[in-house]
Amino acid sequence: MGRLDDRVAVITGAGRGIGRATAERFAAEGAAVVVNDVDPDPAEETVKAIENAGGRAMASSHDTVNLEAAREMFAQAAEDLGKVDILVNNAGITRDKTFHNMTDELWDFVLDVNLKTAFHCSLAAMPYMREAAKQEMQAQGAPAYHRKITFTTSVAALAGNSGQANYTAAKGAIIALTRTLARELGPFRINVNAVAPGFIETRLTAAKQEGEDVGIPEPVRQMALMLIALQRYGQPADVANAHLFLASSEADYVSGVILPVAGGQLGA
Ligand SMILES: NC(=O)c1ccc[n+]([C@@H]2O[C@H](COP(=O)([O-])OP(=O)(O)OC[C@H]3O[C@@H](n4cnc5c(N)ncnc54)[C@H](O)[C@@H]3O)[C@@H](O)[C@H]2O)c1
Repeated sequence: MGRLDDRVAVITGAGRGIGRATAERFAAEGAAVVVNDVDPDPAEETVKAIENAGGRAMASSHDTVNLEAAREMFAQAAEDLGKVDILVNNAGITRDKTFHNMTDELWDFVLDVNLKTAFHCSLAAMPYMREAAKQEMQAQGAPAYHRKITFTTSVAALAGNSGQANYTAAKGAIIALTRTLARELGPFRINVNAVAPGFIETRLTAAKQEGEDVGIPEPVRQMALMLIALQRYGQPADVANAHLFLASSEADYVSGVILPVAGGQLGA
């Protein structure tokens, strides 16, 4: 028996890194997974890996910065997989700049990918989560089970981080959105939580080469390691495990929580 048997999950940014690890973990626990990523090739690769392991998944390359795309993704998911019970808002990106060099373009791009996708996907999920729960309440007095939304913020939003004004503004807003939706959707037994990863080894935290859009300069990477109590960088699977706990019935009485997954990083 899996911890997510009979559940359908939509996971954004699931072609790489934390999202991919979460999609594979959810599928191994019995969920059917919509693997959403703006890059179609890594999304297809994740789906193949899940299918090769005996799981069920479908790819989506919708860019949910656009609301209509988010609505289309949910409609397709419900048509192909029957329903949607779990949403993991994981898509994210960095475009680091010292604040005095920040541009409107970098600000909007980072807020769009980190915050607007999460807003749009959560909104597009409402007919499948809130409305489904409401109908069950009318028919039998209570929702049949808990549905789950998990957001992704960052330790950088909790502690602040030089060079990430755009990113921390987006991730800070995610914290507020998590707490508000936890209140608003609680009566429908929709649990809303967020994970706050620390330093997880993915392309976002790889040693930054000159001219690359994402990554972290090597001296900063070394400094970050010194602040981690457990003295190792995190792995995507570490965050996938937290998403799994929050999405599973073991966390049915957990809502409105910001869960650092940061190895005891100072400031988290
Ligand atoms: N890696 C870390 O240390 C760390 C720390 C804190 C928070 N996070 C957050 O965790 C999440 C996952 O990050 P990661 O490190 O796995 O990054 P990653 O770059 O490895 O994976 C993110 C994926 O999101 C996809 N993506 C980008 N824009 C998208 C869009 N509009 N719609 C759908 N998919 C989109 C990318 O193509 C990529 O495959 C992000 O929200 C990130 O901000 C990461």
